[in-house]
Amino acid sequence: MNDQSGPAEHSTTTPKVYHENYFPTPVFYCDLPGSAALNRDLIKAIRAERAKDDKGIERSNVVSLGGWHSRTDLVGEPAFAALTKGIDEITSDISRQLLYDPSLRLGIDIMWAIINPPGSANRSHIHGGSLWSGVYYVQAPKEAGRIVFVDPRTASLMIPARLDPNQEQGPQNWREVSFEPIPGRAVLFPSWLYHRVETNVTGAKGEAADRICVSFNITQKGLGSS
Ligand SMILES: [Fe+2]
Repeated sequence: MNDQSGPAEHSTTTPKVYHENYFPTPVFYCDLPGSAALNRDLIKAIRAERAKDDKGIERSNVVSLGGWHSRTDLVGEPAFAALTKGIDEITSDISRQLLYDPSLRLGIDIMWAIINPPGSANRSHIHGGSLWSGVYYVQAPKEAGRIVFVDPRTASLMIPARLDPNQEQGPQNWREVSFEPIPGRAVLFPSWLYHRVETNVTGAKGEAADRICVSFNITQKGLGSS
């Protein structure tokens, strides 16, 4: 044993710190082609639905604030066939991008329409019994209310980090993400992702003030099934 060696020399090189992100939360969006004509037809169909059932049902909509929610089986209706086809094209793409089983397809189980007049909003919620969910915007005046997705990593709320107030923070530190309701756009998200809709505070008047959308739930199905 050599006791003449003295203390070991420590490296002065700065160590490289590697950074990877795991467990991402994907959100997809797509602007459907030909949406102006599609939306004109959908507005007629949705208003006709409302004329048949003005009371609607209560889910995440707040009935006391005026939010209307249709029945949930619109997917089989001829007036919603073109939208269904457009959504099927989006979900085929999503299934490929996420490397899902190619012997299955992502298909819509249920579909419903929502009309939020000024003053109405949707509570924070998830969509039970479903894999993917989505919303297609039919009509949305300015400030009709964004959809807000909430950071699903709830355990991280135990000790939130204090962030640098002098830096512009990016998605890695956001706790919420909002999407404007742009007519013709579909936004698809995992059904377990909590979301809400802000209050419609548009200055628009009459029926043009309504925020109108169609929402849907999706699961994996056999390729030949409806
Ligand atoms: Fe929802």
